[in-house]
Amino acid sequence: MRAVAVSEFGATPEVMELPVPEAGPGQVLVRIHAAGLNPFDWQVGDGALRDALPHRFPLVLGMEGAGEVAALGADVIGFAVGDRVFGEFLRVKSGGGSYGEYAVADAGALARIPDAVSYTDAAVLAVAGTTALNLVEGTHVAPGQTVLIVGATGGVGTFATQLAAARGAHVIATARPDAAESMRALGAEETVDHTAGPVAERVLARYPHGVDVLIDVASDKAALVAVAAAVRWGGAVGVSTWAADPEALAARDIRAFNLDNRPTAEVLARVADDVAAGRLRVTVDGTVPLAEAPAALARSRAGRARGKTVIAVA
Ligand SMILES: NC(=O)c1ccc[n+]([C@@H]2O[C@H](COP(=O)([O-])OP(=O)(O)OC[C@H]3O[C@@H](n4cnc5c(N)ncnc54)[C@H](OP(=O)(O)O)[C@@H]3O)[C@@H](O)[C@H]2O)c1
Repeated sequence: MRAVAVSEFGATPEVMELPVPEAGPGQVLVRIHAAGLNPFDWQVGDGALRDALPHRFPLVLGMEGAGEVAALGADVIGFAVGDRVFGEFLRVKSGGGSYGEYAVADAGALARIPDAVSYTDAAVLAVAGTTALNLVEGTHVAPGQTVLIVGATGGVGTFATQLAAARGAHVIATARPDAAESMRALGAEETVDHTAGPVAERVLARYPHGVDVLIDVASDKAALVAVAAAVRWGGAVGVSTWAADPEALAARDIRAFNLDNRPTAEVLARVADDVAAGRLRVTVDGTVPLAEAPAALARSRAGRARGKTVIAVA
């Protein structure tokens, strides 16, 4: 099968011809139609998990995808060959990922795709959609609250903006001027240009007591300290970049957490249902064929995402 993989940590991803993987016990082999691109894909290729897990090379990149069930491993119940499914596929120990014509997932990391949802849209929900849902729920976003979302224009942020607005919150989204209108269309009531000076200062000028919730999917540790100054005493902070220091923020009675997102079948099904019902819109930045995935990864490395990039595999 054709797949996009790296031959060693730090190598440039390239299209390779590799054997079709086999589904072991509790696993499902999926013929991939579309894969979602995440910044973590090139970070894994660079070695982000090298100290945490053994890796096998060539290492096929890609965490998330959608396709149809091609084969079931032993002991799998609840799925049948031909089912339309989506979920998480990153399995570095066996060299597996979603940027290939076939990929293996644990059955518990998959859910069925509702009829109304395309493979393209389903492909980008497993990581960004579930991360956004877990950040919004983990910070207990409630009606009437002010929620500042930093990194709002990217994959996770576009979902988080919609989910927070749908809960009746007043969303302030970071966005460069050219993205402000599209963020308002997703439910943000205000935008702050993060390239035009410190975000916290401008937010505090409008909300002197601070915002209730900060969801941050872009800041490093120093930037997080700066932007968290905009959160009120007793507020909540949810972060996807491992930049929060929960102990330091607890000094202002702020409940902060670094999310380690592990999508369950239940959370996958909830985001897919939200898309099927029209409550959640998928913002696709662009669709590229598998052969162009290496170039798309290079663009992700350079930043400037506007929603999600989809890799059309079949
Ligand atoms: N912990 C977990 O389990 C988990 C799960 C999923 C994702 N993540 C991480 O979460 C982060 C976001 O993922 P993603 O898929 O949403 O990335 P993405 O699609 O590449 O989007 C990142 C967005 O952040 C914006 N941005 C960059 N610097 C910014 C700044 N200083 N202030 C405000 N916005 C800024 C970018 O817009 P501009 O280019 O216009 O600035 C871009 O729209 C990544 O680091 C990813 O690895 C973690």
